[in-house]
Amino acid sequence: MDNINKIIQERRSHYPHEFNGQQLDNNIIDTLIENACWAPNHTLNFPWRFIVLKNEALKNWLQLVLDNLIKDTPPEKFNQKKVDKIQAYQTQVSHAIVLVCEHDSESVNKQKEDLLAVACGVQNMYLSLSQFSNAGGYWSTGMGTYGDGMHSYFNLKSNQVLMGYFMLGGLDKKRTESHRKDFRQFIISVK
Ligand SMILES: Cc1cc2nc3c(=O)[nH]c(=O)nc-3n(C[C@H](O)[C@H](O)[C@H](O)COP(=O)(O)O)c2cc1C
Repeated sequence: MDNINKIIQERRSHYPHEFNGQQLDNNIIDTLIENACWAPNHTLNFPWRFIVLKNEALKNWLQLVLDNLIKDTPPEKFNQKKVDKIQAYQTQVSHAIVLVCEHDSESVNKQKEDLLAVACGVQNMYLSLSQFSNAGGYWSTGMGTYGDGMHSYFNLKSNQVLMGYFMLGGLDKKRTESHRKDFRQFIISVK
């Protein structure tokens, strides 16, 4: 397989339960963000913004996620496993990069393009991880992404949209295997 095809097809999401608890070097985080900024973006308006959470800031945010989960779950739906899972993030996760899209136009189409460009940036982050054999991560749109609370927690402005988090941690060994459907079925033929 050509190198670029291999990198794309062996890119995987790695989750906190797979992390070994090691702190990643800041240069890894810088590389991911720098490469995110090389993503295509219409009119070069650079709609992405990033908030890097580590150490105390990471712990405080994870505590809020946990508090919200407990507060917002009705007693009959309470699931201790979910609580334990988030609690474990405190020792598993090294960094969380908060993904923000900033709009500079009122146009609905332009705003759509801004979101698309940020997603291209996130793909660059994912692919950049390939060069670091002991670091992995994934894009999470859980943990309050769509609630009002996080927007104000991060002091986001009205033209900024929270798009989730890139959760990162150390890995002893990377998974590369996955599966995809045959690409041909996604091609719509023209009559
Ligand atoms: C926009 C977006 C949001 C995602 N949100 C979540 C999430 O909230 N939780 C999660 O476990 N995975 C999330 N993922 C990761 C996908 O589950 C993952 O990409 C998919 O299972 C395919 O696995 P792979 O990335 O290893 O190929 C998200 C991916 C994308 C593109």
